[in-house]
Amino acid sequence: MSDSPPPVSDLPVLKLLNVESAYGPIKAIRGVSLQVRRGEIATVLGSNGAGKTTILKTISGIIDPRKGRVEFKGEDITARDPAFIVQQGLSHVPEGREVFALLSVHNNLLMGAYTRQDRDAVAADMALVYSYFPILRERATQDAGLLSGGQQQMLAISRALMANPDLMLLDEPSLGLSPKLTKEIFEIVLRINRERGTTILLVEQNANMALNACDYGYVLENGRIVMEDSCARLREKDDIKEFYLGLKEDGMRGERRWKKKKTWR
Ligand SMILES: Nc1ncnc2c1ncn2[C@@H]1O[C@H](COP(=O)(O)OP(=O)(O)OP(=O)(O)O)[C@@H](O)[C@H]1O
Ligand SMILES: [Mg+2]
Repeated sequence: MSDSPPPVSDLPVLKLLNVESAYGPIKAIRGVSLQVRRGEIATVLGSNGAGKTTILKTISGIIDPRKGRVEFKGEDITARDPAFIVQQGLSHVPEGREVFALLSVHNNLLMGAYTRQDRDAVAADMALVYSYFPILRERATQDAGLLSGGQQQMLAISRALMANPDLMLLDEPSLGLSPKLTKEIFEIVLRINRERGTTILLVEQNANMALNACDYGYVLENGRIVMEDSCARLREKDDIKEFYLGLKEDGMRGERRWKKKKTWR
């Protein structure tokens, strides 16, 4: 794992080259190439079924790609064992905030650190995640299954942090949460990035939150990347405003634009 990386460098910490993954005959992602630079928060935006989760599962080794290559910190990790990939410093917070429902909050966090030998650093990270999410400290001895949806999302993120990752993959952290909780979770994600220097790749349907929080974004449609740019520039693009931010122009012109085929320029 790296020591103290510079805030954002041009060095890609993660690289996907022409990755294709499928479920039987269904090609879920086709020729996906993307990069995440060290220290940044990158996002993949896409609607329901676009292939966002498939990208993250392919990176973390849960599914093996049919084609292409995944590089992490310059090493080829394509189709490696998920446990090996976690050990290299890459943690995945899956869709649907999976926690060990019958284990206490505290033990869920310890599970996140199971590959680590540095006990003192683990204790320090435990204190840190409790400072990010004080409610988890209050609930430390309770079964995780008793937490609310938002608290389970906090626990899932915290458990991933307990592995002390260089790169964290987040699959729709806002799913099913109230706007207030979503905002809280995004604020902590930003702090994790700024304070720990953890590089983050976030996939989201909530384009508004993602485009405001992230540095660089990719737009995924039907398994293909159709656009990429800095999030500041993506926020200004008409197609993004219309199709992802729900801001469309009024009147006839707006109506025509809405019906027009997307051009992604
Ligand atoms: N286990 C599976 N078996 C068969 N097809 C699948 C499976 N998982 C996903 N798919 C298909 O692969 C495509 C991409 O799915 P994926 O879950 O990656 O999309 P997503 O962008 O994460 O969607 P969502 O926003 O709903 O989470 C979809 O067409 C989906 O129906
Ligand atoms: Mg998904």
